[in-house]
Amino acid sequence: MNRKSILITGASSGLGYAAARKLAANGFYVFAAARNIHGVFNSIENIEELVLDVTDEQSIKESFTYIEARNEDYPLWGLVNNAGVCIPGPLELLKLSELRRQLDTNVIGQLLVTQSALPFIRKSQGRIINVISGLGNVAMPYLGAYSIAQFAKKAFTDVLRRELKRSGVSVSVVQPGKIYTPIWDKFSAMGQEIIEQLTDEGRGTYERSFKDFLTFNQAEGRLFNLTVNDFANVIYEVLTTDMPAIHYYVGEEEKAFIEKSQVSTVLEIDEWFTWCSPSEAECKKF
Ligand SMILES: NC(=O)c1ccc[n+]([C@@H]2O[C@H](COP(=O)([O-])OP(=O)(O)OC[C@H]3O[C@@H](n4cnc5c(N)ncnc54)[C@H](OP(=O)(O)O)[C@@H]3O)[C@@H](O)[C@H]2O)c1
Repeated sequence: MNRKSILITGASSGLGYAAARKLAANGFYVFAAARNIHGVFNSIENIEELVLDVTDEQSIKESFTYIEARNEDYPLWGLVNNAGVCIPGPLELLKLSELRRQLDTNVIGQLLVTQSALPFIRKSQGRIINVISGLGNVAMPYLGAYSIAQFAKKAFTDVLRRELKRSGVSVSVVQPGKIYTPIWDKFSAMGQEIIEQLTDEGRGTYERSFKDFLTFNQAEGRLFNLTVNDFANVIYEVLTTDMPAIHYYVGEEEKAFIEKSQVSTVLEIDEWFTWCSPSEAECKKF
């Protein structure tokens, strides 16, 4: 037995879960990794659950000791860096611990996983996919921590691709448009907690606009056209095409949005977000 295996981080829910199932149903062997993965893929063929916290070096080490032990039967050929959290809130009030959690999960942890995976993937001449949001192109108010992480992940992807150019390992970005997954409810719940913990000054300045922002996102979430299966299909395409491209969008809308941002001035883009800034009167309340 010698089948290509793919490690997907953040496979316990949402996009990663759908991708794991798609790949396992179509000839790949999948290491589905997350912190709370136990029992998620009970008795599904060709998927092995791997408890992996990308923010914990020891956890990464143990996961790769395991992957190495399985490598003869299932050589690691692909890595999908998909795990992520989305921490909302005004930058002025962002706790350092939350910024660190955002960057540890979405950037530093992914680099550590990539470093551990590369010796295997280089040997198997395989593929790396980084999942990046449109907020790696256009930074959004009240999603400052997440935007910083997405820009950083984009830079990490560009550098990795250039460094690996002649290695036989491909590095691709998959950029999904908005897809309703648990990440949206988790971020609404975090936003609600932030509102409850606002000081009087913070409340005066940010409560109204931040609440509007959360309400808008909550309502919007249920209207998205894309599904997790659209994402899974793109991941499958990147892993099966002869020559993977550098960048894939999931959904035409996302592509159009990014193209629009590329021909807009910074001032024009600032205007898109005026609706979610505190008013002049609210700013004076701080
Ligand atoms: N949904 C969208 O609209 C959208 C759009 C653009 C980009 N994205 C990106 O797509 C990726 C997946 O998001 P999703 O929508 O599928 O969200 P999700 O359903 O919340 O899934 C996030 C996954 O990341 C895992 N995770 C979180 N912290 C982790 C850690 N420290 N170590 C290992 N795994 C961790 C979670 O599992 P555990 O909690 O069990 O560890 C979960 O499996 C994210 O990187 C997100 O930024 C999503």
